[in-house]
Amino acid sequence: MKFFVDTAEIDAIAELNDLGMVDGVTTNPSLILKSGRDILEVTKEICDLVEGPVSAEVVATEADDMIAEGRKLAKIASNIAVKVPLTWAGLKTCKTLTDEGQMVNVTLCFSTNQALLAAKAGATFISPFIGRLDDINLDGMDLIADIRQVYDNYGFETEILAASIRTVNHVTDSARIGADVITAPPGVIKKLADHPLTDKGLEIFLADWAKTGQKIL
Ligand code: G3P
Repeated sequence: MKFFVDTAEIDAIAELNDLGMVDGVTTNPSLILKSGRDILEVTKEICDLVEGPVSAEVVATEADDMIAEGRKLAKIASNIAVKVPLTWAGLKTCKTLTDEGQMVNVTLCFSTNQALLAAKAGATFISPFIGRLDDINLDGMDLIADIRQVYDNYGFETEILAASIRTVNHVTDSARIGADVITAPPGVIKKLADHPLTDKGLEIFLADWAKTGQKIL
């Protein structure tokens, strides 16, 4: 399973990238706002840092404008994945840009039927939002499982990019179901290493080691 980092914070991306944990990055207008950076500048910096796909989202709502924005974003670097919302205009943009050989991430997916449409439009990635479904008392993981089954039934190659991940259990469940990619905030990815028994075990080992009076270096 690939790990994308869901942020536009350069330092956080660099820290995880140095550990080999970053297969790509996803951004959106809210994350650009949070970063306080210019979209074109910060996206270029991320693309220079990370080898894998970097999603940059269009903000127009009409297809012609979306396509123009997508083409402009695509010029930032060869690893840009143009991100479009799951609307008919977004699907048209997806079809046009993928026909031109551009990676496209179709975002704001909340149903299996929407995911089917994105696959038929040639999307490179489909982004079902887990946390936002959980927020309204639905089960985001059910959607990931349903899309996995449907894509496998027909051999669709669109990659399932589990998004709106809020917890470490979302990561585990996405991996179990077979999502191709998860995108998560840096904080969630860092928490994946945590286990109280690891901390406790290390404490015991260090205490015993101190009693030996030995040194390795
Ligand atoms: O990848 C989509 C993500 O940024 C949305 O997450 O937590 O705002 O629902 P959230």
